[in-house]
Amino acid sequence: QPVYRFDYQAPAYRVTHTELTFDLAPTATRVKARLHLERHPDREGGLPLELQGERLELKAIALDGQALDSGDYVIDDKGLTIARVPERFVLETEVEIAPSENTALEGLYQSNGIYCTQCEAQGFRRITFYPDRPDVMATFSTTIIGDQQSEPVLLCNGNPVDKGSLEDGRHFATWEDPHPKPCYLFALVAGDLKKVEDHFTTMGGREVTLQLWVEEENLDKTEHAMASLKRAMAWDEQTYGREYDLDLFMIVAVNDFNMGAMENKGLNIFNSAAVLTHPKTATDIAYQRVEGIVAHEYFHNWSGNRVTCRDWFQLSLKEGFTVFRDQCFSADITSAPVKRIQDAAFFRTAQFAEDAGPTAHPIRPDHYIEITNFYTLTIYEKGAEVVRMLHNLVGWEAFRRGSDLYFERFDGQAVTIEDFVDCMAEASGEDLSQFMRWYSQAGTPEIDAHGEYDYTHSEYHLTLRQRTPATPGQPEKQALHIPVRMGLVGTKSGRDLTMTLDGESLGKDGVIHLCEDERTFVFTDVAEAPVPSLLRSFSAPVKLHFPYSREDLAFLLAHDSDGFNRWDAGQRLALLALDDLIAAHRNGVEKVMDTRVIEAFRTLLTTSTDDKAVLAEMLMLPSEAYIAEQQPLVDVDAIHAAREFVRQSLAVALRDEFLAVYENNRSQVAYAPEPEQIAERSLKNVALSYLMAIEDEQGLAYCREQYEADHNMTDVRHALTLLVHSSDEALGASALKRFGEKWAHDPLVMDQWFTIQVTRPQADVIERVKYLMQHPAFSLRNPNRVRALVGAFASHNRVNFHRLDGEGYQLLSDVVIELNRLNPEIAAGLVTPLTRWQRFDETRQALMRAQLERIKAEPLSPNVYEVVAKALA
Ligand code: ARG
Ligand code: ZN
Repeated sequence: QPVYRFDYQAPAYRVTHTELTFDLAPTATRVKARLHLERHPDREGGLPLELQGERLELKAIALDGQALDSGDYVIDDKGLTIARVPERFVLETEVEIAPSENTALEGLYQSNGIYCTQCEAQGFRRITFYPDRPDVMATFSTTIIGDQQSEPVLLCNGNPVDKGSLEDGRHFATWEDPHPKPCYLFALVAGDLKKVEDHFTTMGGREVTLQLWVEEENLDKTEHAMASLKRAMAWDEQTYGREYDLDLFMIVAVNDFNMGAMENKGLNIFNSAAVLTHPKTATDIAYQRVEGIVAHEYFHNWSGNRVTCRDWFQLSLKEGFTVFRDQCFSADITSAPVKRIQDAAFFRTAQFAEDAGPTAHPIRPDHYIEITNFYTLTIYEKGAEVVRMLHNLVGWEAFRRGSDLYFERFDGQAVTIEDFVDCMAEASGEDLSQFMRWYSQAGTPEIDAHGEYDYTHSEYHLTLRQRTPATPGQPEKQALHIPVRMGLVGTKSGRDLTMTLDGESLGKDGVIHLCEDERTFVFTDVAEAPVPSLLRSFSAPVKLHFPYSREDLAFLLAHDSDGFNRWDAGQRLALLALDDLIAAHRNGVEKVMDTRVIEAFRTLLTTSTDDKAVLAEMLMLPSEAYIAEQQPLVDVDAIHAAREFVRQSLAVALRDEFLAVYENNRSQVAYAPEPEQIAERSLKNVALSYLMAIEDEQGLAYCREQYEADHNMTDVRHALTLLVHSSDEALGASALKRFGEKWAHDPLVMDQWFTIQVTRPQADVIERVKYLMQHPAFSLRNPNRVRALVGAFASHNRVNFHRLDGEGYQLLSDVVIELNRLNPEIAAGLVTPLTRWQRFDETRQALMRAQLERIKAEPLSPNVYEVVAKALA
């Protein structure tokens, strides 16, 4: 049964203070709760008290000290209802739960013997009976009782206020969190953990102790996360004026975690993959991911915790804003253009696909069955793109004033997306009413653009027409306010021309606003014929179509002053060539490589540049997934063949150039996750990929050497992947075996070992996936293992997942069915590739649908049911 956004009502009762006592035991943890409740001032008296609760065994219940009779309350599988309660009262309950049997990883569970919690969005109801909704905010006081031996460390939100030993080798700790919070921000950790400690002095002079808690063997993998945390704390002060508000900030790493991390007040809990790094075990990408996630969770302390969401429909209020904040942070400390290229490339592949599929939803959905299905690319990443547009529309200064106003006005409250946008409107004086449609309309807007240069009047006429395709439940769409950042690049000068629009100067790089269905912009005094550079820095999350010729694109690739659009011109040029090759493959015609692409790449490779990071990005071809996004009907085999053909043609034609790039960028200094080093490694490794695409002898020697040198995981993993993915399986076999033995003790490295094998393009891979699922290092109960093996196969091995005999689909649905019982959230995420069946040929459509029907016939969790039902609707 769906929940609807318009049904929102304030809670009948609110909790002012929550007292909890946990007596920990793996299969029989006792949770006592004393809730100080009162009628909500906005609601009438006499309403029943409804508390959520799932999988709880009630042991005792009392109201204002009086034990209740069984006739005084009703318990069902959703919770506890008491028909009559006073205006103000204390409710005491005691329940029993079984953390060691909790495989869903929601609520209180055990990971490697460590007790930990995940309460967002609705996990707290698996801990105790409670009004489990974000607009109920209370102060918390929590006592944890555990075993001195197995749980020497007992952690909770806020400040430690008491501790001591008890009988039978037990001990306790009491924590108080003075900041009122919704229960989804509650956290508890208990286990045998070790810490590293550091300090940060806030701008207001508060001395904050920073602790990172890990299992002992991971103590040497904490340095980068701690350094990232300190950078994030400083950045939020400098950029947003936001200061930390407790004396202690803790991060805990656990192995079993459904997502990346969680921003619990003062006690962030992280998937170990999102915290732990070491040069020998983590790649540059992992280092950057850790930095981004540590910052993201820290930034939530203001955008999420101090000001939170009124209801879960507002999830993007905290997530969109916080992703925008972490993206800006990463851009500031690494390379801004590369960060933007990587984010946009990912967004245009994955979010566009979501927006075009059966689970498309607005950034602020109107209804849901299971909220955990809405931790999506749309809520997070598209939400961040919308905040970015707001930021660009009003300008940084007004945006910062709006942000200050928002934090000041709503501190300690649970609010809505309108509240946020209203602050931006108030601070800037802009009318943002049309802009609000971004929050309610699903689907990716497309802009059809064309332009014409009028020589006689020196004018350039640019026409933009927008349309948003229908999405489930939204057949009609309205025009959006789309900011298009652009330049006009003179074909003679190769420079940005000054733009004049309606008598006003836009400068050489400016923003035009498309608010109507269609509009023609007339630029005057345009001295030479230009090529327009549109949607610079991906200024709006839209698809832009412009009839660029290949000459135009080669020109922009060489001359665009916007790094992002220079990269994009290269991608568009490659896509045009790929289109021809895909058609040739389908028609059985001989493939011919477009020499303009080769020449463009030659220019890139031989022109000296000081931005190696951007160059590396420019040398990467669009991914198979992104190419598929551009096709009306996805032909996975043709896409793979065409892309391989381009890779090999480039490698043959530019072999010496790639070799020189490799050789010029292989200096091996002590590993550091610094932008310059990362740029050199990625440039060198792109070059090596091309050389290995043709199994060049010298390239192969370098690849082996790079693997054996064992200098850092970035280089080792890249070399191993190239060896294992080469057409001669024997090339990588021994290295793969040695790698697996060497790292058998490190689950995060074994994840990489699994992924490398299951993304091999050769056809025997399905058997390999099945075989690896029996490997002792694999477990269906661990989300990282599932994603590294099954998820990587289904999402990143397109030719094999979509095999025509349907084996790939069958394998995935087998896993989904089994996982549905263990961990519904992960199962629902895993099913995604099958839900995109509309994009494929009839044979595959039928096979994919048959698997979805098979899943649907099972007794399903709401999570999997919601996704599968939408996919089949
Ligand atoms: N709020 C967390 C974050 O974005 C993620 C919450 C995870 N929720 C879940 N149901 N797994 O950092
Ligand atoms: Zn978040």
